[in-house]
Amino acid sequence: MDQDIINNNKEWIDEVWRKLDKKLSAAAVRNRGIIPYTSNEGCYDNRGAANPAWWSNGFWGGMMWLMYTGTENEEYKKTALASEQIIDEGLKSFKLLDHDAGFLRHIVSGANYRITGDEAAYSKALYAAASLASRFNVDGGYIRAWNSEGSEGWSIIDCMMNLPLLYWASEEIGDPRFKRIAIRHADMVLRHHIRADGSVNHIVVHDTETGEVLSIKRGQGYSECSCWSRGLAWAIYGMTLSYKYTNNEEYLAAAVKTANYFAANAAAYDYKTPVDFRAPREPAYYDSSAGVCSACALLELTKYVSDAEAYVYTDAAVKVLKATDKYFCNYDPDWDSVVQMATERYPADGVMRWVHVHLIYADFFFAEAMNKLRGNKFCIW
Ligand code: GLY
Repeated sequence: MDQDIINNNKEWIDEVWRKLDKKLSAAAVRNRGIIPYTSNEGCYDNRGAANPAWWSNGFWGGMMWLMYTGTENEEYKKTALASEQIIDEGLKSFKLLDHDAGFLRHIVSGANYRITGDEAAYSKALYAAASLASRFNVDGGYIRAWNSEGSEGWSIIDCMMNLPLLYWASEEIGDPRFKRIAIRHADMVLRHHIRADGSVNHIVVHDTETGEVLSIKRGQGYSECSCWSRGLAWAIYGMTLSYKYTNNEEYLAAAVKTANYFAANAAAYDYKTPVDFRAPREPAYYDSSAGVCSACALLELTKYVSDAEAYVYTDAAVKVLKATDKYFCNYDPDWDSVVQMATERYPADGVMRWVHVHLIYADFFFAEAMNKLRGNKFCIW
């Protein structure tokens, strides 16, 4: 990170951190035993009870671990451990396991093991890695997305964020199998998901027998050739983390290319991230979760680039976080949820779902970014 930018913003960083910690420490105690996905009128829902294997259920516990490493407040740790017990329920059905094993386990059981050394958490993280690896299509070189009939040949950009679980597993057991699968998937993403201009394709459809790429499918976003901003965030962060674990310069180049696309386009929206960078500007639909995830990615990326590039990425990340703080945050300690104005789904066919709502992963990435700005060295990924 560029230290001058950090120093110039120290007062703001300290103030946001103080409000965030005050709010989240109250929420951690009040909501121990649930796992939120969204909130309604300042009350979290309980997605953990409704579906313990839901893809985003790791973000609540992961955020608790982040706050614990940033504060050493035991209340965060207790809530993180309680959330792990809930997602353990999801292990009981094989049908519920999917490509999001990393989102679900790496930042909960994996974080638990890395912080406390807990052996049961270690085993659960390795089981998750084994289950994720088992989804690899050897001919197509991709990790299969979802479980629904018809999605056997699909790879999605989101899955880049699940690869750190595989890299970690290989390091732990001293066997490259998991890492090789992650590398094959990331190489496929370089070829088929990341476009020449640095924007990304959400879904790529492969022939399940030959591996041939059959088509690009829209999934999320305004159109097949537009740029769903959260997908872009998954690409910037996923490629940066793949570089961290492999030192493959091609991944770093892809991280830089996607980061440059984000930085240039976010500036054109005053750093309030739209849900799609190539959708009509009006009506304006935002996705705060894409902004804060991209900010984390940019801050991580600063570790691996020149000082000049680190300045550009620190500057863009801080501007996104300041816009998030100013326009989208609620710091009332009695009101569940911090970052508002996230958008779950933005398809072109007019069926909008969960637009301008709270989503737990926006809070997670905001907390992660503020931890990074404060110099917390713990990398949860
Ligand atoms: N990985 C699911 C999403 O970003 O909506």
